[in-house]
Amino acid sequence: MRGKVTLVVGTNFGDEGKGKIIDYLAQTHNMVARATGGSNAGHKVVIQGRSYPLHLLPSGVFNPRAKVIIGNGVLVDPIVLAQEIVSLESDGLKVRDRLYISEKAHVIFPYHVRTDEIEENRRGDNKLGTTHKGIGPAAEDKYARDGIRFSDMKQLFTELNEKYGSCSDIELYEKFWDALCKLMFDQIDKHYNSMPFASYKNRYFAKDGELDDSIRKLYAAINILLPCICDTISLLHTNLENGQDLLIEGAQATLLDIDFGTYPFVTSSNPTASGMCTGVGIGPTYVSEVVGVLKAYASRVGEGVFITEQANEIGDKIRVLGHEYGTTTGRPRRCGWLDLVALKYACRVNGLTALAVNHLDTIGMLENFYVCVAYRDKETGEKTTSFSSENNTLNRYVPVYKEFEGNFYKEMKGSKSFEELPQEAINFLQFIADYTNVPVKYVGVGAGRDDLLKCNILPQK
Ligand code: IMP
Ligand code: MG
Repeated sequence: MRGKVTLVVGTNFGDEGKGKIIDYLAQTHNMVARATGGSNAGHKVVIQGRSYPLHLLPSGVFNPRAKVIIGNGVLVDPIVLAQEIVSLESDGLKVRDRLYISEKAHVIFPYHVRTDEIEENRRGDNKLGTTHKGIGPAAEDKYARDGIRFSDMKQLFTELNEKYGSCSDIELYEKFWDALCKLMFDQIDKHYNSMPFASYKNRYFAKDGELDDSIRKLYAAINILLPCICDTISLLHTNLENGQDLLIEGAQATLLDIDFGTYPFVTSSNPTASGMCTGVGIGPTYVSEVVGVLKAYASRVGEGVFITEQANEIGDKIRVLGHEYGTTTGRPRRCGWLDLVALKYACRVNGLTALAVNHLDTIGMLENFYVCVAYRDKETGEKTTSFSSENNTLNRYVPVYKEFEGNFYKEMKGSKSFEELPQEAINFLQFIADYTNVPVKYVGVGAGRDDLLKCNILPQK
């Protein structure tokens, strides 16, 4: 029988704690994959008190038996990926012998990273607040059909190795230097063809030695990744047909989706469920479970509308209690209340079959807390429970809240099963299941790997 496919999706603005759920689910999956985004993602997995931030490797890499796949939909910065591999391997976790990078995945080059920065500066007050990881510019190249893929890198390196393999290391490196440099400047030239070489060289590699440094790092990184580049689509389908299960790990989230999010304050991919299928090459009928991850409150990093934001001392308190600082950029996250109107939308566009609610411990430290159950039009006073990701529409609304009793942290501390949770906490989770009509199946009660309770809170209406 064909293996099962499970997707883990972010329901809000990212940073819902997907890494924690994936780390748990990965223990029972033979294959774990990333499908979308790139090193803009930051997943933190805490194992035995030690925190492991990951940007490109799926969080499921911590199951040492799992095959680790970077799908065709991921925009891969080879330097970041190679660093992550080396860092985990130096801690004793083998990665390279079970890592498969799609030959169709697009490569992020240092000039993409630089362009991201230049573009954000150009936007000035209208900046998007990107992570400066080169995601937008690399996506532009991909859709302009000007991108460089890992298959191109593999071909280039194979050809040069065949041609100059007998040369000294220094000579060989010089050949690669020339080839990589030409490739990068040809790419830059396509977009800025009116700029003379010297001026764009200065624009992209402003500091002395920066170009050399970039090429040296790229060369080393691609050499590390080369043996892992392959046809991941055949690989994962053959394994699925042999009964192996696949876990696809989402990055970013529903409201950052280029189609479904608060455009233009979004990322340059479709991190929702259907985009994740495209990002590894499976059809939607293969998917048996779509887990939507949320926090008991909400956060957003970067610009854009955030209707339940608490830009006040409550938000500050949530930030401190929930350690809401970016894994990728270190930026303090904007914090606010859980928005069930937006969550219902995430249930719809992703076809969620299960919910995972994180940070129950954090919300339980507050005296009381609020959940947005509807929006009210500021002018007409009309209420709605239907979400629109259009900024103009969202800006017309104010949230309508329901209050919940908090202060249950002390009572819930140390709970090892859902049944041991205080009644206030259970009532809150039941309310989420009823509102969304999706069962709550996982509850996060702390940062650690073991602080996850399994349950099955079914909607009661
Ligand atoms: P980009 O993906 O770096 O282009 O950034 C576009 C928007 O998505 C910005 O608001 C970022 O802060 C946000 N973003 C991108 N990746 C993540 C993530 O993993 N978590 C939270 N926000 C993200
Ligand atoms: Mg994150």
